[in-house]
Amino acid sequence: MSFPSVVVIGAGSIGTFLAARCSTVTETLLVARDATAGRFAEGITLVGAFAGLYRVPCVGWSQVARFPDHCLILVTPKIFQLQDVLSELAAHWRPGMQPVLCQNGLGVVAEADRWLPGPDWARAIAWFGIRFEPPTTAHVTGVKSMEMAGGDPVAMADAAELLAAIGVPPVFVPDVPTVEWRKALWNVTLNGLCALAEAPNGAGDSDPLLRPLAETLLAEAAAVARAEGVDVTAEDEARVFEGARVTATNLNSTLQDLWAGRPTEMPWLNGAVVERATRLGVSVPSHRLVCSLVNYLERTGSRKRT
Ligand SMILES: NC(=O)c1ccc[n+]([C@@H]2O[C@H](COP(=O)([O-])OP(=O)(O)OC[C@H]3O[C@@H](n4cnc5c(N)ncnc54)[C@H](OP(=O)(O)O)[C@@H]3O)[C@@H](O)[C@H]2O)c1
Repeated sequence: MSFPSVVVIGAGSIGTFLAARCSTVTETLLVARDATAGRFAEGITLVGAFAGLYRVPCVGWSQVARFPDHCLILVTPKIFQLQDVLSELAAHWRPGMQPVLCQNGLGVVAEADRWLPGPDWARAIAWFGIRFEPPTTAHVTGVKSMEMAGGDPVAMADAAELLAAIGVPPVFVPDVPTVEWRKALWNVTLNGLCALAEAPNGAGDSDPLLRPLAETLLAEAAAVARAEGVDVTAEDEARVFEGARVTATNLNSTLQDLWAGRPTEMPWLNGAVVERATRLGVSVPSHRLVCSLVNYLERTGSRKRT
């Protein structure tokens, strides 16, 4: 089986993992910022699952010559970094290439279209737990599956075979809203809540004070998803708390972002729930509260750890 060439954009947690694993089966290029590309000259180290040293060519944008024809482009920066990334990608994207947006969150295709209209974007949601530790190590605590929707059916079938070959089970989901909501239910239930409590994921499931709040957040979010026409199943809802148990000791990305003084992805998580609920006339008071509190902490930097 010959797989498509792969270009991975963004050398963080998801990007280094995918680039390392894809490099074992196909031609792979990792594109980083100019300032950081050089650090990967000796390779990427994965710790935990798939442990090893992976030698992957890595370049900064100023060194990109020409992306391979018909390549798969895995776009892995955070959502609020899409503007910069896609303005760079615009100079290299050609018809026939299949770009795949790998961010968590709601409304990511619309966000990408703002900065680079034209591609038939595919959407992929990583059910992974990966933490990048500079300069070159990714700690891989869990790789459950990659759920996908949209894009060109032939290119995405090839992408699914590639993912299976690198040990990432691919799952096709009928449409982009469904694939986004299935993971967003988890993120909007646990990220903001556990970040505010400075608690690991498991507390959202097992702590007697946090669990009722998590259930309320989940019920409000599921009501918005259903009002949008997404078929939220009991299994989707149960998966939120199962996931909290499986990743009980993990600290979610919103908490890590607040501690690091970085922007959070809140506008595409609880913020997106509030915005959609307002449009649809659904009541989501818990999401409004979580969103405002996280935004306050982000703006003031008061959770930043030095
Ligand atoms: N980590 C996980 O386990 C996980 C699981 C599922 C989904 N996700 C989602 O995946 C997305 C990425 O998360 P992540 O944890 O991989 O984030 P991350 O570790 O911060 O990685 C993003 C990478 O993109 C780079 N980048 C930003 N702007 C760039 C540009 N203009 N050119 C080149 N590179 C650029 C960043 O560089 P700088 O650091 O220099 O800005 C960083 O290395 C998020 O939407 C997240 O919600 C993550």
